[in-house]
Amino acid sequence: MANVIVVGAQFGDEGKAKVTDLLAKNADVVVRYQGGCNAGHTVVVGGKTYKFHLIPSGILYPGTICVLSPGMVIDPKALINEIKSIRSQGLDDSGLKVSAYAHVTMPYHLMLDEAEEASRGEAKIGTTKRGIGPTYADKCARSGIRLEDLLDEEVLKAKLEWLVPRKNVILERLYNLPSLDAQAILKEYAAYGKELAKYVVDTAAVIFQAVQEKKNILFEGAQGTLLDLDHGSYPYVTSSSPSAGGACIGAGVGPTMIDRVIGVAKAYSTRVGEGPFPTEQFGEAGEGLRQTGTAWAEVGTTTGRPRRCGWFDCVLGRYAVRVNGLDCLAITKLDVLDQFDRIKVCVAYKDSVTGKVYKELPSIGSTFQHLEPVYEDLPGWNESTRKVRQAKDLPAKAKSYLEFLSQKLEVPIAIVSVGPERDDTIIIEDPIHGPKRVLVTAPV
Ligand code: IMP
Repeated sequence: MANVIVVGAQFGDEGKAKVTDLLAKNADVVVRYQGGCNAGHTVVVGGKTYKFHLIPSGILYPGTICVLSPGMVIDPKALINEIKSIRSQGLDDSGLKVSAYAHVTMPYHLMLDEAEEASRGEAKIGTTKRGIGPTYADKCARSGIRLEDLLDEEVLKAKLEWLVPRKNVILERLYNLPSLDAQAILKEYAAYGKELAKYVVDTAAVIFQAVQEKKNILFEGAQGTLLDLDHGSYPYVTSSSPSAGGACIGAGVGPTMIDRVIGVAKAYSTRVGEGPFPTEQFGEAGEGLRQTGTAWAEVGTTTGRPRRCGWFDCVLGRYAVRVNGLDCLAITKLDVLDQFDRIKVCVAYKDSVTGKVYKELPSIGSTFQHLEPVYEDLPGWNESTRKVRQAKDLPAKAKSYLEFLSQKLEVPIAIVSVGPERDDTIIIEDPIHGPKRVLVTAPV
């Protein structure tokens, strides 16, 4: 029995879905614990590409229980479309369980996400415009609508009669947008409730029962550590807690029930949306990493936006190891580096004002802008790793590159991905039962 959290160690899009998919083979329950349809999880099996936004990628294994937790925000229209899409692909949705307590993205959340972003001008966050921030804001303000409310028309009506006039004041007066009709929303969303009712349960109880039955539970993070509301590059973050601690809160499981935390990082870095990205590359290197026009291109799964690309950042990597308590790492997309003669890795930051050098992240707030990466320049291996299936067959320089990252982050690398397919993978150590990180860093 092992209960494992898979978490993004960078800015999201690290390839978590592929790693979850690999581990889900032995999982009885796969749980999404935060975020909503801002996520885009891609899994490639037998040449077929599956894209998920709300549903855990464990759905690819028939009979697996797939949970959407209370910590998520759910656009019911998007969920219904995703359920229809997975059914049309012949996938089994009988294990799908959706929390009655998950908050619902309403039409005003979508409108406000768009309007707030536009009003920020240059200071925009670059959201996915899926209404994520406004839905979580209403949850915190205790004005949210939960999935259970869609199942009771009287409750939904009472809530909307209070909420919609207030939202209309903001939409009309602040943003000059058309007002919304509470009655029309009631009709539409009560209908979604009827359609989703069969999936709606107390998911924390489902997970607890699985724990008692000593089943294997996999918690699938969305977004990444640097997008975490509390621990990311605020305000350029998402509105939930993608980091490992978020799994306990979002899913409703105690920390004592977690056995392992696996971080996922690309062999380089990418980011979509605005915000600091110290190792970002704009020239030839950036284009090389982006791979525009190929099946492996760095384009957002949800929004289709080109991703910003740059070198691996060990300072942020060490930070991710620390705030998530990572036991081991999965490194994805190593093959993207096959084409490079030289590969840079950021090993520290230098403060351009004071000249001070930092190996640990001194601040993720406003001083970030003064920090310049200090690089080590490593040799590339100029050879395809796509067909490699065992660590011993990797080119020596690729092995050295991985060892370099592992040493700098002080965490073992258990999995290396060398292509999009499920099988394009090298298992270096058993990620669940193999060696895990031992705290060796001296106190700062
Ligand atoms: P939101 O989550 O739509 O509010 O967007 C907030 C920030 O998180 C923006 O920079 C988005 O680009 C980023 N973001 C949200 N979801 C993802 C994701 O799944 N992958 C990568 N970035 C994301």
